[in-house]
Amino acid sequence: MMTISTQKETNVIDKKSPEEIRIERLQKKYGRNAAGAENGNGPGAVPGPGGGPGRRGPGGGPGMPGPRGRGAGMPIAKPQNAGKTIGRLFSYIGEDKWKMGIFIVCIILYTAANLTGSYLLRPIINNLVYEEGGRTTLFHSLLLMGCIYAVGIAAQYLQSRIMISVSQNALQRLRDDLFRKLGKLPVRFYDTNNHGDIMSRFTNDVDAVGEMLNNTINQLISGAINIVGTLALMLYTNVWLTIITIVMTPLMIRAGRAVAGRSRKYYKQQQAALGTLNGYIEESVTGQKVVKVFCHEEIAEEEFSYLNDDLCKKQINAQFFGGIMGPVMGNLSQVSYSLTACIGGILCVLKGFDLGGLTIFVNYSRQFSRPINEISMQVNTIFSALAGAERVFDVMDDAPENADAPEAVSLVEKDGRLVFRVPASNKDYADRDGMEVKGAVTVEHITFGYVPEKTILKDVSLYAKPGQKIAFVGSTGAGKTTITNLINRFYDIEKGRILIDGVDIKDIRRDDLRKSIAMVLQDTHLFTGTVRDNIRYGRLDASDEEVEEAARMASAHSFIMRLEHGYDTMLEGDGGNLSQGQRQLLNIARAAISKAPVLILDEATSSVDTRTEKHIEHGMDRLMASRTTLVIAHRLSTVRNANAIMVLENGEIIERGDHDDLLSLQGRYYSLYTGASELS
Ligand SMILES: Nc1ncnc2c1ncn2[C@@H]1O[C@H](COP(=O)(O)OP(=O)(O)OP(=O)(O)O)[C@@H](O)[C@H]1O
Ligand SMILES: [Mg+2]
Repeated sequence: MMTISTQKETNVIDKKSPEEIRIERLQKKYGRNAAGAENGNGPGAVPGPGGGPGRRGPGGGPGMPGPRGRGAGMPIAKPQNAGKTIGRLFSYIGEDKWKMGIFIVCIILYTAANLTGSYLLRPIINNLVYEEGGRTTLFHSLLLMGCIYAVGIAAQYLQSRIMISVSQNALQRLRDDLFRKLGKLPVRFYDTNNHGDIMSRFTNDVDAVGEMLNNTINQLISGAINIVGTLALMLYTNVWLTIITIVMTPLMIRAGRAVAGRSRKYYKQQQAALGTLNGYIEESVTGQKVVKVFCHEEIAEEEFSYLNDDLCKKQINAQFFGGIMGPVMGNLSQVSYSLTACIGGILCVLKGFDLGGLTIFVNYSRQFSRPINEISMQVNTIFSALAGAERVFDVMDDAPENADAPEAVSLVEKDGRLVFRVPASNKDYADRDGMEVKGAVTVEHITFGYVPEKTILKDVSLYAKPGQKIAFVGSTGAGKTTITNLINRFYDIEKGRILIDGVDIKDIRRDDLRKSIAMVLQDTHLFTGTVRDNIRYGRLDASDEEVEEAARMASAHSFIMRLEHGYDTMLEGDGGNLSQGQRQLLNIARAAISKAPVLILDEATSSVDTRTEKHIEHGMDRLMASRTTLVIAHRLSTVRNANAIMVLENGEIIERGDHDDLLSLQGRYYSLYTGASELS
């Protein structure tokens, strides 16, 4: 009986509602949502939905790729060193030194005008109450006060104008540095980071920093000067009342810090969630066709609203803790104000403290706590900015591609040819100095894996004589593209080496090496700009005739001429207005225009019809004659005329030879060629 009822209960418990199943699925995919944060987990313990590649841990290493490029449940980085981040931001402002100098002078002037202006109230009030001095003195005091305030207003106007220009310049430098860094980051960084999240660092995070630079910096500096000036004048006016005001201050600061500590944590989470959401939007926009084809609109909406919901919760936390800072500080300053007024009143009655003195003191005590209040009101902006800045600096601190050694060999253009330039300190390659780069490619026993635990290429060796055409064939995922990635030094090799004309590619300056290799990548990419600009991307100094010649060689000329504005047709959104094959032809033309001695074509003609492919082959024959060409193709007709064909399986070259050799071998190539593999 017992057993039956327990079984029944278990069934009831196990039966989940569709809503629970939905939540469980989303949590599994993106990590628990922000509800955890509300329950007050410690910093860094909240597994945010997008804790994956978009963000790195404090160590700065790339996160592990998670589902759909987002790692589920990676811990959010702990609030890091705010002091260091502020210092770093200041270094950006510091570059406008003279402007900052004028700015500080203006702030001092403005604050001094405010302080002395309000101090003048003391003789004016005493004049009225105790009838000290005459009407002329009163008039003079009022006039002086007016002039002082006028100077203060002018200084304030100038100060805000200067700050806007300083902060905009700083932002421009920040964006420049970030963008420059993007060019220096290794390909691995882009493999493991969510692209939308990277973009979010450029937009939301930099914007948040801008907001702070525009408003907060000047409040911080003027606040600090105000505090010092006010304190001096308070001490001068009445020591006892000053002590009371000062005693209240640590209390206010403590309260502020308690709230601020939580705020910063939530702001960091908010910026990260914003990055994840942007990543999702970016993926949805670029992959909209796939979303439609698989009718994923509903699921996409569901996922989006999950992430949106998460952002909302994190924003509520961040804004709430940012928002209560003002009222908390305001109330505390009200307490301090009342205390000062009461004790000051008693001092007036019992100790003959002048009424003018009391009035200005009460004013000063307000002025003293005002900067603390103002800064606390800005806490939202400050923490968004610090969180944003940390995310920007995270990218900037990511390890760049290894720097070139000082004795690295350069490849320079001389009389239209690419020649080796070997520094005197480099004895190993001294004999290569001044020699033309012919493009002999040697791959010696390379073993490589993208991640240490998974080897992709196993002991691969090959040699391509200058001007030879070497082809790679093999099944999907065999490692063909990986070989080209290594020749281009997108990734560094652990074991083995690759040589160009006998020079290890590790000893060649990275940029120069890439200059010596023209590549048509497997994923085509076109930039916003005209057709001509896109072809010229391969060699910026190419003339219009050379652009056209390259287009003819790639069989792209005729379709370009059919476009509305020919070579001046604008391409947008990765050439969305062209067919896939046409995009490939432009990519080929872009590689053809370069004079690089090594040409790599990775599935360059996979979307082009066989007749056009034949045309390209004829067009490129002349081009290839003087270059070493590495061709990857699934369509075996493309590789028939190669000098050597490498058959790659599971990262190993299992067969090599020319077309006839391989056919007579009756092995893997034979079965690929005759279609026997499909039949078997
Ligand atoms: N950036 C990367 N990070 C981790 N693993 C990768 C990466 N790129 C490729 N791989 C893995 O390396 C293996 C070889 O990939 P590669 O792109 O070289 O294959 P391929 O032979 O070019 O295939 P295809 O014919 O489909 O283009 C695959 O198993 C793939 O999963
Ligand atoms: Mg490939």
